[in-house]
Amino acid sequence: MFIENALRYDARVHVLDPDPDCPCAAIAERYVRGSFADRDTVLDFVREADVVGIEIEHVSVEALEQARAMGKRVIPDPAVLRTIQDKGAQKLFYQEKGIPTAPFTLVEDRATLLASPPPLPAFLKARTGGYDGRGVLPLRGSQDLERAFDGPGVVEHHVDIALELAVLVVRDDAGNTMSYDPVEMVFDPRYNLVDHLRAPARVDAATARQARQLAEQVAGAFAATGLYAVELFLTRDGQLLVNETAPRAHNSGHHTIEACASSQFDQLLRLYLGLPIGDGRLRAHAAMVNLVGEGGRGEPVLNGLSDIVHVPGAFVHLYGKRETRDGRKMGHVTLLAGDHLALDQGIAVTRLHGRVVPAAMNSTPTPTQA
Ligand SMILES: Nc1ncnc2c1ncn2[C@@H]1O[C@H](COP(=O)(O)OP(=O)(O)OP(=O)(O)O)[C@@H](O)[C@H]1O
Ligand SMILES: [Mg+2]
Repeated sequence: MFIENALRYDARVHVLDPDPDCPCAAIAERYVRGSFADRDTVLDFVREADVVGIEIEHVSVEALEQARAMGKRVIPDPAVLRTIQDKGAQKLFYQEKGIPTAPFTLVEDRATLLASPPPLPAFLKARTGGYDGRGVLPLRGSQDLERAFDGPGVVEHHVDIALELAVLVVRDDAGNTMSYDPVEMVFDPRYNLVDHLRAPARVDAATARQARQLAEQVAGAFAATGLYAVELFLTRDGQLLVNETAPRAHNSGHHTIEACASSQFDQLLRLYLGLPIGDGRLRAHAAMVNLVGEGGRGEPVLNGLSDIVHVPGAFVHLYGKRETRDGRKMGHVTLLAGDHLALDQGIAVTRLHGRVVPAAMNSTPTPTQA
């Protein structure tokens, strides 16, 4: 998605990824196979680059620091990434900066956790390496403590969530800051993964304004050029808490491709090139429905494609991943509509018919097969 937009500017994008079948390999100017967690591999890869960015947090920060020392423009700031890579450090950062976040404690390992169990329900989160709900264990009762992983973790009090929101913030070199309309995220309890989101979020104007202010405060606290996706909890008693921040393009901003003049990917490119921040106003009510793999592993096929493309204002994005797996994000559908009601209908059709399954389970041919 980043490359699709970058091509319009004649920007040349090089990609480093361990998987030669990764979707971007087919459309990048240059693809290099390798681990982005390996310092030397990253340094070797960025030698020719003017600007270095990331798509995932689990990269060698040391390499990015060195790339910056070599004079490269590196976004996000490696120092920000270092804080964000560690959920414990991230929570301490919010605390230090006076940013409201769920109460927490840090645990060294499983033994420490079991020695003095927290009040339940709670959430146990791996300090490093988690992604898309992996590394997050809800502790509903004492029986869940048995399943706790071993290693450094954050134990968070269970928050009584009314709504999960996300706000994308863009911050340029001069410190100019722009936030997008808050989006409302609806989770799939099976995978602890976003099922769909809608923008604008169905909250009152004061809450929307506070959410944007809080997200801008987070970007201000990081005090560095970048794109920040700030995940928020709106509690049942009306409080806004910061859950976590991703210093990169994020699933909660995919709708901006069609719903705004300047998408999150466009903003990122503008930051990379030192161009002014773009227009992020919503042009319509928008929803983004994740297409998540189900029915096991295999070559992916999207069932229900003809039903989805029938919906006015539907935009299908299939990522071109070669293998579908349960819970793997395989694509998404963006829906634009004039109001929330029309949006509801599009979401319902997409969720009812849209299924990414292994080819063997498929009943109708799709472009992926052709
Ligand atoms: N303290 C909490 N109280 C209630 N629910 C929580 C709490 N912490 C996390 N959750 C739930 O678990 C989800 C995943 O948690 P979190 O965002 O920390 O994990 P993650 O693995 O980084 O997820 P992702 O990469 O998908 O953003 C949250 O979006 C929320 O639904
Ligand atoms: Mg999250």
